[in-house]
Amino acid sequence: MTDKKFELVDRATERKAQLPVRNGTIGPSVVDISALNKDLGVFTFDPGFGLTAATESRITYIDGDAGTLLYRGFPIEQLAEKSSFMECAYLLLLSELPSRKQLEEFTSNIRYHTMLNETLLRFFNGFHHNAHPMAMVSAVVASMSAFYHDTMDIYNPRHREIFAHRIIAKIPTIAAAAHKHSLGQPFVYPRNDLDYCSNMLHMLFAVPCEPYQVDPIASQALDLLFILHADHEQNASTSTVRLAGSTGANPYAAISAGVSALWGPAHGGANEAVLAMLEQIGTVDNIPKYLDMAKDKSSHFRLMGFGHRVYKNFDPRAKIIREMCHKVLARLGRSDNPLFELALRLEEIALKDEYFVSRKLYPNVDFYSGVIYSAIGIPRSMFTVMFAIARTVGWVAHWQEMISDPGMRIGRPRQLYTGATKRDYTEITKRS
Ligand code: SDX
Repeated sequence: MTDKKFELVDRATERKAQLPVRNGTIGPSVVDISALNKDLGVFTFDPGFGLTAATESRITYIDGDAGTLLYRGFPIEQLAEKSSFMECAYLLLLSELPSRKQLEEFTSNIRYHTMLNETLLRFFNGFHHNAHPMAMVSAVVASMSAFYHDTMDIYNPRHREIFAHRIIAKIPTIAAAAHKHSLGQPFVYPRNDLDYCSNMLHMLFAVPCEPYQVDPIASQALDLLFILHADHEQNASTSTVRLAGSTGANPYAAISAGVSALWGPAHGGANEAVLAMLEQIGTVDNIPKYLDMAKDKSSHFRLMGFGHRVYKNFDPRAKIIREMCHKVLARLGRSDNPLFELALRLEEIALKDEYFVSRKLYPNVDFYSGVIYSAIGIPRSMFTVMFAIARTVGWVAHWQEMISDPGMRIGRPRQLYTGATKRDYTEITKRS
């Protein structure tokens, strides 16, 4: 808290509210409005929470104007170049980069929780073969609430740690099981001799009939994509996990709520929508027509993978992924990828268009990620599932930060009521 205060005066009544200002370590200060309703009898109004700090957090920082993203203070560009997803998971969960020994122990804890209870595996047989993988993943993650009663005291730090290891370890196995169910192929068990991303690819693509060799280029690309998708402060799905968790709900139920929120095309579902959009656009000649549709509100068409609530500059993750596309496609011998070429031209043309420039609409994390997922063989229906696997680390980090805060309160927003005033019931016989 600082001594700085804002004073709000109701000129009609001369009532005043003294609103303390709180500074963070970096970024905008916040006005503590807790006295507002008591002093002036009003609420604030901020649909979509565009200007509302819902919590204090020490995990991730975004500067939308500068295009900055820090995980526990470390720039995403440095982590992308030098770190690994498991190391970033440790950093996001435990605040500091691990020593070699700490990383080995953490990675081992994750590795030895990757198997699923066999009865949980049988849940997949209940889904229609063309169920969307996100529907299966959110359902099976929620079903984990029906297991693991031995470690469900959310106020016990050891139980929280075991939950973190279990969900981070099992979400790739659940994702791969969903994919195999969609294909009608047998489930492939996790392997303890493979690293996190190689294991993911092996469970997705191996079949019992022949050995499967994971392509190290694909595994490295996936590891980098997971780093970039691991956390992003109070985004919609993370806020969903916090709100669900604030009721004291089972943490698997809270994570499942996050999976469901991520699925929307305005959020994590955009990566799948971008590929569909690029295929719909088809050729560079069609780009102007689709840009006109994106500007025409009545068309309900949006340029998927463009725009962001916070970034009013390039999403730093989009820049890194765009560079990755060049390298991964070249190393996979797929440099002439038509979808990537189309995406590059679309970005170039859109960023010269006044509509996008004036609204500061730049490519976001979802614009290029699908090009890489496709290049390493991941089907479009699994793109958002891959996002969910990575973001599970961020969801768990935020859930743990909230639950371990002694000042935690249940989340309960207020409203501006504009409905009917009080009126009496009329018997149906008297209604017209
Ligand atoms: C993610 O929050 C996070 O951090 C999310 C995320 C994470 O890591 O967790 O970064 C991941 O969700 C990335 C975003 C993925 N979604 C998309 O790519 C879908 C397309 N983008 C939009 O729907 C939109 O840009 C949002 C949802 C991302 C942001 O919406 P906002 O902040 O509510 O912005 P808005 O809808 O108020 O748009 C402001 C203006 C509007 O025009 P005007 O009313 O001023 O005339 O920009 C226009 C919008 O119509 N606009 C677009 C557009 N995005 C915004 N017009 C065309 N195409 C677009 N993509």
